[in-house]
Amino acid sequence: MSKKAVVLVTRKLPDAVEARLERDYDARFNSADRVYTSDELVEFSAGADAIIPCHTEKLTAAVIERLPDSVRAICSFSVGFDHIDLDAAKARGIIVTNTPDVLSDATAEIAMLLILGAARRAHEGEQQIRTATWSDWSAIGGLGIQVTGKRLGILGMGRVGQILAKRARGFDMQIHYHNRSRLSPDIEAGAIYHGSVEQLLPQCDFLSLHCPATPETERLMNAERLGLLPDGAILVNTARGAIVDDDALIEALRSGKLFAAGLDVFNNEPDIDPRYKALDNTFLLPHIGSATRETRDAMGFRALDNLDAITAGREPPDRLA
Ligand code: DGY
Repeated sequence: MSKKAVVLVTRKLPDAVEARLERDYDARFNSADRVYTSDELVEFSAGADAIIPCHTEKLTAAVIERLPDSVRAICSFSVGFDHIDLDAAKARGIIVTNTPDVLSDATAEIAMLLILGAARRAHEGEQQIRTATWSDWSAIGGLGIQVTGKRLGILGMGRVGQILAKRARGFDMQIHYHNRSRLSPDIEAGAIYHGSVEQLLPQCDFLSLHCPATPETERLMNAERLGLLPDGAILVNTARGAIVDDDALIEALRSGKLFAAGLDVFNNEPDIDPRYKALDNTFLLPHIGSATRETRDAMGFRALDNLDAITAGREPPDRLA
């Protein structure tokens, strides 16, 4: 019998995923689900053939350079890969994979929830009930912005953006988008393409971010670009916090330039900028875009499909490096 490959699993994963890992691999689990430091990542990788990290593990060039030679693959339990330095992995001949497609529906659901929650001031209403400060129904209290029929701008019309567009059409929203390349008319399904971010922004009553975090998109939503949104617009982010300049967004929320923001992702999670929590016009979630039972199982199985291919000497389906 051939020896099972050794796999470092950096976070606690769903039961079904850990059961498959246990069956097929010599897996090192993290049952306490503690986020490892960089030093621990390197130390616990000793003798491992592969690592299954989440986006919480920062596999920077410095960390990858220190990984033991035994590590041949990093199969991330995530679609995003801004936590992994692909060039450093390539330089060391380490294969890197992610889990595209399987979390698009769940993430689009959270984007829709943020749109609705931010527009209808869900957090303030919830708080009134929970703190027993709801005095009575009022004809003029708790007024939000109606979502139905408004213009939704989608920045990054990939898998999640396309599903969000479908869901938003159920609210009769008019879809505008910017993407690196224009989609074919059948996929566009009537959505209006704008050739630049700057052209898109003035058309958005709502703006939803769906581009990856890269050096090009870091702080893309800065003061200048937020200023191009119509007054009273709503911004939602389910992509990555790095796309937003926190100072600029907080100022736009404080000044009333924006009516509200719905955020599921932040810079420096989980120690996010405390000013967001002090604002009434924010609807905040703790990075739960992909957090459904179905999706987290599917992400784990997808990561394992990639690992299975690599250990069998085949090309993995979702290779990044
Ligand atoms: C992803 O898969 O990138 C999600 O943000 C969760 O990590």
